[in-house]
Amino acid sequence: MEKILIRGPVKLTGNVAVGGSKNSLSAVLPALCLKETGTVGIIDNVPDIEDVQSFQTIFQELGMELFYDNKERRITVTGEIVNTQISKESAGRIRASNLFLGALTASRGLAVIPFPGGDRLGGRPQDIHLYVLEKFGIEVSEREDAVRCKATRFPLQGQKIFLRYPSVGATENAILLAAKAVGDTYIYNAACEPEIIDMVIVLNGMGARIIGAGTPIIHIRGVEQLRGITHELIPDRLECATYMVAFAITRGKGRIYGVIPEHNFGVISVLRDSGVDIQYQDDVITVDASQRELQALHIHAQPYPGIATDIQPLLSTLAVSCCGKSYIKDSVFPNRFWQMEPFIQMGISIKQTSDHLEIEGPQRFHPAEVDGGDIRTSMSLVLAALTISGETIVDGYEHIRRGYENFACKLQALGAVIEIM
Ligand code: EPU
Repeated sequence: MEKILIRGPVKLTGNVAVGGSKNSLSAVLPALCLKETGTVGIIDNVPDIEDVQSFQTIFQELGMELFYDNKERRITVTGEIVNTQISKESAGRIRASNLFLGALTASRGLAVIPFPGGDRLGGRPQDIHLYVLEKFGIEVSEREDAVRCKATRFPLQGQKIFLRYPSVGATENAILLAAKAVGDTYIYNAACEPEIIDMVIVLNGMGARIIGAGTPIIHIRGVEQLRGITHELIPDRLECATYMVAFAITRGKGRIYGVIPEHNFGVISVLRDSGVDIQYQDDVITVDASQRELQALHIHAQPYPGIATDIQPLLSTLAVSCCGKSYIKDSVFPNRFWQMEPFIQMGISIKQTSDHLEIEGPQRFHPAEVDGGDIRTSMSLVLAALTISGETIVDGYEHIRRGYENFACKLQALGAVIEIM
């Protein structure tokens, strides 16, 4: 397994460009399965990340072709679904494999999808997805570690659905099921993440009739057929926030290009309250933490537009170097805090209460060999390592590669000494 060696400390300085959104891609690709045949879709601004290969295998298994041109950052999807089953291995590589429950049942009335993979974030049930499927009159059974779906009436019929929690994936599955269902569907308490809006832009571009994406009530009027589409993915707000935190934690300064600042107002606000100077104009965010003593953070990860749970571990890492007591709460993945284990190995003292963490700063990380275990924790450890005098080894390259394109090159260009071993 490859490891990441980081030699610190460094003050990151310079410019960095952000790639297309991983989680948007995860929603958009299953949506393309709703078109019958031919060239289904061309997706631009696709990040060069490991998850692209995972989708490639899934499309192959479905009988379709997904071609990725990594120079052009373009995916072309062609063909038609000839198989409604995904292998255990492919489903287990990514979380978004469970979006093929909605995509395949919507287009063929059948789906067999083994339990999905993705980051271990402390229990990731699928009950809301299954509830949505059943609401559409789909027979759902769980056998041999797979969810099996069979539509009792096909085409599906529009429904009124209330989600007990605004799950991103369950909202996406509900939209997929509704796009070609007969009549109207209303999704109440829908997730409002920008990636949902991006998925709906794609579906509407294919001929769907969906309004309200980005709000808690989404209305879908089903259409019979969808056409092909060319679409450019939105920038990855999580990658953007990562570089904002990277400049802040190393007390550096720089510009982040190709972003939508509005998608990160929560993080911008938390960083500014701490003392980081952040300016933005058009698609550029400027971060300057070089002259500042940063103050403690109040972080509460919540569904969008709250602070993303994916940024919580990165902000927690920053909290270590801030003055005073930081409070960290995660209402999206409350059990994510076991991920603080490697930080303790790096000498950090953290108080865990029943529902939040407290970090009294400033403290210093100490060099160690640590294992991240998922995308965001592994990246947090890399950022922590940038502040340490000496060598730190992070096991977790395979996780970071799933979500961050060229992260080592991008950090090197900002002055980091980092190599993949
Ligand atoms: N939940 C349930 N039942 C369900 C579905 C979700 O209880 O049926 C709970 C989860 O256990 C969790 C909360 O609802 O406590 C939120 O889960 P959600 O379904 O919204 O998450 P997801 O769709 O599985 C996406 C992103 C994650 C991101 C979350 C939350 C993708 C591919 N993944 O996951 O991204 O953390 O939304 O914003 O879009 C990452 O990028 O590192 C990542 C893990």
